[in-house]
Amino acid sequence: MPDTLSVTDNRTGKKYDIAIENDTIRASDLRQIRVKDDDFGMMSYDPAFMNTAPVKSRITFIDGDKGILEYRGYPIERLAEKSTSFLEVAYLLIHGDLPKENQLEEWRTNVKMHTFVHENIKKLMEGFRYDAHPMGMFISTISALSTFYPEAKEIMDPDARRKQIHRLIGKVPTIAAFAYRHSKGLPYVYPSNDLTYAGNFLNMMFKIGDSKYTIHPTLEHALTVLYILHADHEQNCSTNTMRSIGSSYVDPYSSVAGAAAALWGPLHGGANEAVLRMLDEIGSMDRVPSVIKDVKEGKMKLMGFGHRVYKNYDPRARVIKKLADDVFEVTGKNKKLDLALELERIALEDDYFVKRKLYPNVDFYSGLIYEAMGIPMDFFPVLFAIPRTAGWLAHWQEHILDPEQKIARPRQVYLGQRGRTWIQIDKR
Ligand code: CMC
Repeated sequence: MPDTLSVTDNRTGKKYDIAIENDTIRASDLRQIRVKDDDFGMMSYDPAFMNTAPVKSRITFIDGDKGILEYRGYPIERLAEKSTSFLEVAYLLIHGDLPKENQLEEWRTNVKMHTFVHENIKKLMEGFRYDAHPMGMFISTISALSTFYPEAKEIMDPDARRKQIHRLIGKVPTIAAFAYRHSKGLPYVYPSNDLTYAGNFLNMMFKIGDSKYTIHPTLEHALTVLYILHADHEQNCSTNTMRSIGSSYVDPYSSVAGAAAALWGPLHGGANEAVLRMLDEIGSMDRVPSVIKDVKEGKMKLMGFGHRVYKNYDPRARVIKKLADDVFEVTGKNKKLDLALELERIALEDDYFVKRKLYPNVDFYSGLIYEAMGIPMDFFPVLFAIPRTAGWLAHWQEHILDPEQKIARPRQVYLGQRGRTWIQIDKR
């Protein structure tokens, strides 16, 4: 049997054979389906890209029914367990293979060479109001970087491209930590390149005065694992934004700023904060049954549960849940943990959740860890953006080098009026 899909247009009685490749038809093949020769041809209507693949990618694989997530073919659980550093996983995402020792060393050196920001970037950040949201500061500052590196617009020059990738991965923790220090009214702490990627970030966040800040190895390890788990998630809203902005061939700083803006929304990177607010509102164990009742009656959603793609336990949530125990041993247990565990226990047994395949997602436990580490809620999306920058850049590079891609320019189904007659303002 040929790999084709036969379609009969009942308006005309004409039959079309459309090629199938990778279980997919090309939307542009539908254009041959027309009633009259001068018709535009058929399109597919797909709000929110629910069933549209605008790219072929070799970066991240998700099987939502089985709960599988892989970066470049490596299961996320293995990477979280075996990888010694976030930069090793960032290298994997960008380059496609795990680095050899000398490659990792060179990559690390290149990224660390770019952790500092121009003093004027610091001055720019100092200009924000004392109560500026750290994510707003982060997005604006990333965008401002494009003015410091005009060569970044040479996106087809491999050397220039490599350099912006090193710069962005190097600078995002610095800008993030400066945003946090600003919100606390504390002096900014410069990067320490003898520390790990996660260790340097913790130092820039929490060091006070001249005294040495001791990084707890468990917390440093936890943050490394959280970075690895959040580094990529294929064509999510912010990655799609990164690809779309990048397709106009603008510099990558502008694209990352746009992607980070998409991440900031409560439907995307903001859910872990919503989980904590929900747990705060529930307040005590005796309220759990009535909350579950309200959820089942459609009065509220159980935040941190359910996922558009995963119809099984989110593999990232499983890793985070284990990690939480290690972190709480150091920080003391987050008081909301028992509430979260009880909600999960009931939900996993309850018919409402089982039938709808609602399982804990990545956000159910991550906020509890961040809060226990002393990180305020409005900083959570910034924490998400740091590792996701590596994923965005991997997709950006794949996109602009893909000969099949052009500037992203979807079509529309126009339902408005046409050819109206101009009426003088006093006659309308
Ligand atoms: N609590 C209670 N019921 C739920 C929930 C929930 N968290 N999520 C879905 N449902 C119900 C929903 O009401 C619907 O029921 P019915 O069939 O009776 O109408 C059914 O499950 C299917 O849900 P849906 O809304 O069609 O599913 P979706 O794929 O459109 O939504 C979601 C996915 C993640 C937006 C949704 O599950 C949700 O709002 N969850 C809570 C917010 C959350 O935790 N978001 C984090 C997502 S993971 C982070 C990321 O990837 O950025």
